[in-house]
Amino acid sequence: MDNKNVKKIAVLTSGGDAPGMNAAVRAVVRSSLNNGLEVYGIRDGYYGLVNNDIFQMKRKDVTDILTRGGTILGTARLPEFAEKAVQEKGANNLKALGIDGLVVVGGDGSYRGALGLTDFGIKCIGIPGTIDNDIASTEYTIGFDTAVHTAVDAIDKLRDTCNSHQRCSIIEVMGRYCGDIAFAAGIACGADKIITSETGFDENELINYIKERKHTVHRHLLIVITEHITDTIALAKKVREETGWDSRATVLGHIQRGGSPSPFDRILATRLGEAAVESLLSGENSECLGVQNNEIIRTPFKECFDKKKNVFYKYAIDLNNQVR
Ligand code: ADP
Ligand code: F6P
Repeated sequence: MDNKNVKKIAVLTSGGDAPGMNAAVRAVVRSSLNNGLEVYGIRDGYYGLVNNDIFQMKRKDVTDILTRGGTILGTARLPEFAEKAVQEKGANNLKALGIDGLVVVGGDGSYRGALGLTDFGIKCIGIPGTIDNDIASTEYTIGFDTAVHTAVDAIDKLRDTCNSHQRCSIIEVMGRYCGDIAFAAGIACGADKIITSETGFDENELINYIKERKHTVHRHLLIVITEHITDTIALAKKVREETGWDSRATVLGHIQRGGSPSPFDRILATRLGEAAVESLLSGENSECLGVQNNEIIRTPFKECFDKKKNVFYKYAIDLNNQVR
């Protein structure tokens, strides 16, 4: 490969951790070394970049991490990184070590930070690492598939107890403002209702729906709802009071962010990590990677912000209604 003068590159993980971030770091480190580059790890995302917590990585540093959840590099949120002066400090720390390329594994907030760094001459490539699946430039983000597996496992268990007790179970999943975890887990678990920011939420409509269902043969009701829609605990109480159907709320929370990555996430992360190094070697300086129809695609950072993506919304609700 023609390396267009890139000799040293660095990698960091940023934003909420996601299963498969380690697999991406491993792929970046191994591909870099296999192409004769020096590779550096940055601890705790942009926090470590600004505070110069940067270390050279060797093959053994990524041994046995493919299967591990979390991120060995650590991650953090640093709101001040939106300031140009803070970005410049980070860029200067890289330049002082002769590092001219950076791979950022994170979500769209992290991509904004990466784009900011390109203004100071750092070549940046983004890899989508977030359980939320909320990045427009890819069909799937690293960690989403594992999070859906975790949610499905939990909801299947809730179905058992809910059915035994003839209860209504309201399960809150993560996703920030994207409904993909709710849609995917909802379809996979045969949820009676899937409520997300994309579907909208009308509390009275839901209460009426539950009242109607109470007089059918159903012993249980499963409702999957994305976080930030409403107070899920209060909603379950209201359902109990207004419908007489005993209800429980379960907030799955951060458990969805942990665990060993699924084979899908390991493979996706490995492909994208290798492709990120390839991008830097070919002289790219500002783009994020993704997959579409199982092909790797490359999109300028600017084009992936503020776009809505609706991988599941296109069919999820209709499909779920058809099979209820
Ligand atoms: P994600 O990357 O998963 O979307 P966040 O939105 O928390 O997660 O962003 C991660 C980090 O990226 C933030 O803590 C901050 O350091 C950086 N970041 C977020 N938004 C911006 C922005 N507008 N400009 C520069 N950096 C940003
Ligand atoms: O972006 C990943 C995510 O887990 C979102 O689903 C959630 O809204 C947020 O991070 C939670 O952030 P924190 O770890 O700061 O509570």
